[in-house]
Amino acid sequence: MVSIRLSFNPQKKNEPPRMIINTPATDQEKISNLYMFKNLEKIVPPKEDYLSRHKKIEEILQELDSLIGLASVKKLILELQAFIEIQRKREKENLLTDKLVLHMIFKGAPGTGKTTVARITGNLFKEMGILKKGHLIEVERADLVGEYIGHTALKTREQIKHALGGVLFIDEAYSLARGGERDFGKEAIDTLVKAMEDYKDNLILILAGYKNEMNWFLESNPGLRSRFPIHIDFPDFNIRQLMLITEQMLNMRQYQFTEEAKKKLETILTAHLAITQDYNGNARLVRNLIEKVIRQQAVRLINQTNVTRNDLMLITWYDVYQTAELD
Ligand SMILES: Nc1ncnc2c1ncn2[C@@H]1O[C@H](COP(=O)(O)OP(=O)(O)O)[C@@H](O)[C@H]1O
Ligand SMILES: [Mg+2]
Repeated sequence: MVSIRLSFNPQKKNEPPRMIINTPATDQEKISNLYMFKNLEKIVPPKEDYLSRHKKIEEILQELDSLIGLASVKKLILELQAFIEIQRKREKENLLTDKLVLHMIFKGAPGTGKTTVARITGNLFKEMGILKKGHLIEVERADLVGEYIGHTALKTREQIKHALGGVLFIDEAYSLARGGERDFGKEAIDTLVKAMEDYKDNLILILAGYKNEMNWFLESNPGLRSRFPIHIDFPDFNIRQLMLITEQMLNMRQYQFTEEAKKKLETILTAHLAITQDYNGNARLVRNLIEKVIRQQAVRLINQTNVTRNDLMLITWYDVYQTAELD
């Protein structure tokens, strides 16, 4: 079970609710048939636009659910969705509510699905009426920080403008604090904090990066930490999950492994995980491998006469073997 603890304090109306989230590992990877969403359906009398919105939300949650692993991430997004809906209903009944603060911290290695989940969350919040557009603008230090005094605020404000109505996703956010007090990164942080105030109903900020670096960043910027109540961990995938991601990616591209090809790829991935323990590239590594394998298949088929539909779909042991030879 994932537990999510929210503390509300009616005396401090202006403070965001604090969320403390425990996400122990679990084998249950699918989000329980969207159970919370189904319950909500019973409470609200269906109207035309409600139904189409509902359908879109369900589609978005299905997309989230189709991601391999990420059990705790999926549960948390679902809990957020339920929480927001219920806060709204409480508001209608004139019950005490807290202002929703939905800025988030995503902690995890590259290729663990952070950008993918951020994009899905943006779409979800759009359909829920939290964001007007729900699009994702992904930036990094170089997009925000300039070269002379004043340049940084200008560049950062430009990105904020693009992101209004959606999500501003800042990858490797800790690099903004890299140079300390005198670095222009500080100017970017200050500009972002101001934007969070100015556009609090129309912009969600997500800061992403490696777990340890993000923890350091938040500890050295306590003012920032209090503005990001939602923290989500993106764990590395294990070999079983990487294999499932491989098959999903191949199927989406209308390719298929032979059994031998699959075994060969598993061997390659396992070896890769063993030598690069700290950073294994995760799902991105899989995507790159697949793209190479597909090129090797093409090289093999190009000189073959009578290529069948099946040949065009099949990835053989030899294709995977050749890919490994290339490295
Ligand atoms: N859980 C998952 N299941 C299937 N594919 C995934 C999963 N997580 C990531 N991917 C795929 O891996 C690639 C990298 O993911 P991305 O979200 O960019 O990772 P990050 O932002 O953490 O670096 C994308 O092509 C994405 O579709
Ligand atoms: Mg990313």
